[in-house]
Amino acid sequence: MKALFISLLALNLLSLSFSELCNPHDKQVLLQIKKHFGDPYLLASWLSDTDCCTSWNQVECDATTNRIVSLRIFSGDLSGEIPAEVGDLPYLETLEFHKLTNITGPITPSISNLIHLISLRLSNLNLTGPVPDSLSKLKNLRVLTLSFNSLSGSIPSSLALMPEIDILELDRNNLTGPIPESFGNFAGRVPGDASMLFGPNKTSGSVDLSRNLLEFNLSKVVFPNTLTYLDVNHNKIFGSIPTQMTQLNHLSLNVSYNRLCGQIPQGGQLQTFDYTAYFHNRCLCGAPLASCK
Ligand SMILES: *[C@@H]1O[C@H](CO)[C@@H](O)[C@H](O)[C@H]1NC(C)=O
Ligand SMILES: *[C@@H]1O[C@H](CO)[C@@H](O)[C@H](O)[C@H]1NC(C)=O
Ligand SMILES: *[C@@H]1O[C@H](CO)[C@@H](O)[C@H](O)[C@H]1NC(C)=O
Ligand SMILES: *[C@@H]1O[C@H](CO)[C@@H](O)[C@H](O)[C@H]1NC(C)=O
Ligand SMILES: *[C@@H]1O[C@H](CO)[C@@H](O)[C@H](O)[C@H]1NC(C)=O
Ligand SMILES: *[C@@H]1O[C@H](CO)[C@@H](O)[C@H](O)[C@H]1NC(C)=O
Repeated sequence: MKALFISLLALNLLSLSFSELCNPHDKQVLLQIKKHFGDPYLLASWLSDTDCCTSWNQVECDATTNRIVSLRIFSGDLSGEIPAEVGDLPYLETLEFHKLTNITGPITPSISNLIHLISLRLSNLNLTGPVPDSLSKLKNLRVLTLSFNSLSGSIPSSLALMPEIDILELDRNNLTGPIPESFGNFAGRVPGDASMLFGPNKTSGSVDLSRNLLEFNLSKVVFPNTLTYLDVNHNKIFGSIPTQMTQLNHLSLNVSYNRLCGQIPQGGQLQTFDYTAYFHNRCLCGAPLASCK
């Protein structure tokens, strides 16, 4: 009788000590990620005998399902590539690697499995290789930030298939070529070699493509009325500023350090910007720059 009581007590204690919220699959994946980075100090709170939902830093669990919905690792000492295992956290809505000392290599394609992602930020790292085509599978993505890396190649046209993108930041990379024609093709095919950023049906609000090697004709780009911020400074963009830009009522713009020409169209917000929004182009003219000859 006494033995039974003791063993019941022990069972009780055992179940108590294991009554954590953390999903076992998620926990195992996170411990693999920690191991991948060589048990870094930054992830010291990730211990196998504590609850990832209540005791670990850098992660958040959903309040009802207890699945990991946020993984944000930033500002610290971390070396290696982004592990493919991040793609095994199927309920992630937020994924961030930002400002870490030595994160190199490509953007792992497994990120494209994270169909619930709303925000993806991989910035101030030393990532190389292309912006993966497969990111277009992330239909719920609103924020895509890949700034301050050494990414190369052109912007995949499939990114135009992400319907919810609101903030797109690809600045400070080594991206080349045109912006994809298919950005905006939702509104119907445009004949010719039109390069279009976003069609009128897109919701994109903020786009930063500055400090890359992008090369396209700005005259042919159609912008959505929802555009609030466009920074393309320091590229190789040619053509002129489209008259349509006078219709964007909430726009903030910087097209400096490109190869643009012609008169800045009169109207809308275009004369409200400082001249530095336009300077260092081939032959742009008109207010706020000097008048055209
Ligand atoms: C950066 O990481 C790579 C690969 O993990 C390693 O070989 C290299 O020594 C690291 N460099 C520094 C400065 O930590
Ligand atoms: C990228 O690597 C270079 C040297 O390989 C280093 O100087 C630079 O600080 C690194 N940048 C970041 C953001 O880690
Ligand atoms: C960017 O591309 C240029 C030309 O291909 C190359 O010289 C340069 O090293 C690249 N820079 C980075 C940061 O990858
Ligand atoms: C774009 O929006 C217009 C007006 O709301 C609509 O008629 C059209 O079908 C939309 N096009 C696409 C491809 O969604
Ligand atoms: C840019 O496109 C416009 C409109 O199609 C065209 O008139 C112009 O010649 C093009 N500019 C260059 C430099 O190709
Ligand atoms: C535009 O960008 C250039 C280059 O970074 C910068 O010098 C200038 O101050 C910016 N101007 C505005 C109005 O944002």
